[in-house]
Amino acid sequence: MDESLVLKKCGYILGNTLGDGSYGKVKSAYSERLKTNVAVKIINRKKAAADFLEKFLPRELEIQATLSHSNIVKIFKIFETSDGKVFMVMELGVQGDLLEFVKSRGALPEDFARKLFRHLSAAIKYMHDQDIVHRDLKCENLLLDKDFNLKVSDFGFTRRIVYTETGKMELSKTFCGSAAYAAPEVLQGIPYNPKMYDIWSMGVILFVMVCGSMPYDDSNIKRMLRIQKEHRVDFPRSKHVPGECKDIIYKILHPDVKRRLDICSILEHHWLVKHGEASGRHHNRPSTSKAALSSKDDKKDSKTEADAPPAPAKEEEHAGPSSNRIDTDCVT
Ligand SMILES: Nc1ncnc2c1ncn2[C@@H]1O[C@H](COP(=O)(O)OP(=O)(O)OP(=O)(O)O)[C@@H](O)[C@H]1O
Ligand SMILES: [Mg+2]
Repeated sequence: MDESLVLKKCGYILGNTLGDGSYGKVKSAYSERLKTNVAVKIINRKKAAADFLEKFLPRELEIQATLSHSNIVKIFKIFETSDGKVFMVMELGVQGDLLEFVKSRGALPEDFARKLFRHLSAAIKYMHDQDIVHRDLKCENLLLDKDFNLKVSDFGFTRRIVYTETGKMELSKTFCGSAAYAAPEVLQGIPYNPKMYDIWSMGVILFVMVCGSMPYDDSNIKRMLRIQKEHRVDFPRSKHVPGECKDIIYKILHPDVKRRLDICSILEHHWLVKHGEASGRHHNRPSTSKAALSSKDDKKDSKTEADAPPAPAKEEEHAGPSSNRIDTDCVT
């Protein structure tokens, strides 16, 4: 059956396309029951790879259903048709994703970046406290609601951490996510602590927010890895990034996992705790630069276990809890 007919039958009027993923697409829709616009991720099982169907999709559906946090995108309903199409109805990121936002507006004012990074940190603390890891944190997977609150999205690589009988964390071995956001241990194929991988990606995201460009040039992974292992973080000279903000980014992007900040230390860092809540003045501020950022359109195949790196992104010299009850049913 035609997608718009399936959705109509379930009370949704299909709208425009919001994004194209590796195994499906995301569309906007109007929910007649909720009387609001929503997003619907439509995945076609027939077009998906076996590991995605057997491993990643079940995790995405199961784990996202258990999460309930104001900075995590809310799932309203999941249903599936007999011809293998899965529909995930979720909260709409009205202002789009963070990559698009930074690409159009340039580097964000410090207060706004702090507000968004606080939201991201709160969501990751909530997940890590439950031993759930995301493993694909990147600007494209962070959505903004109408009030510019950040919502973590795309749980396609999420998993629960498993512990051995002696209480030792079992390290992850699967390469997940995008090279530009991947920690050096992940790029090297070393079994990794997935929480600390999430933390590294958070450092890349914060850099993008305050600089409007990527911290590392991923067109040459070998070179990128060398720079990361030397603990070099080159901030663009054209941007004024306050010292405390540079400090937190530098401590997050530490190649030594044992010395990298964890989520609790991030939340205690001076840059995050010192200042009051962001004023929200960001949308009045004119953009200062156009970011040299990779676009999701450039890398539709990124959701693989060994994905191709996104387009080079180099600039200048450097190289409250919410209700999340889900109805699951099946139509046709
Ligand atoms: N709830 C939403 N509200 C608004 N836009 C959304 C929403 N969910 C997804 N999108 C848009 O669609 C894009 C793809 O969605 P998502 O990341 O969930 O799919 P994916 O198949 O996992 O994609 P990829 O493989 O590229 O990571 C996002 O980057 C975002 O721009
Ligand atoms: Mg995505």
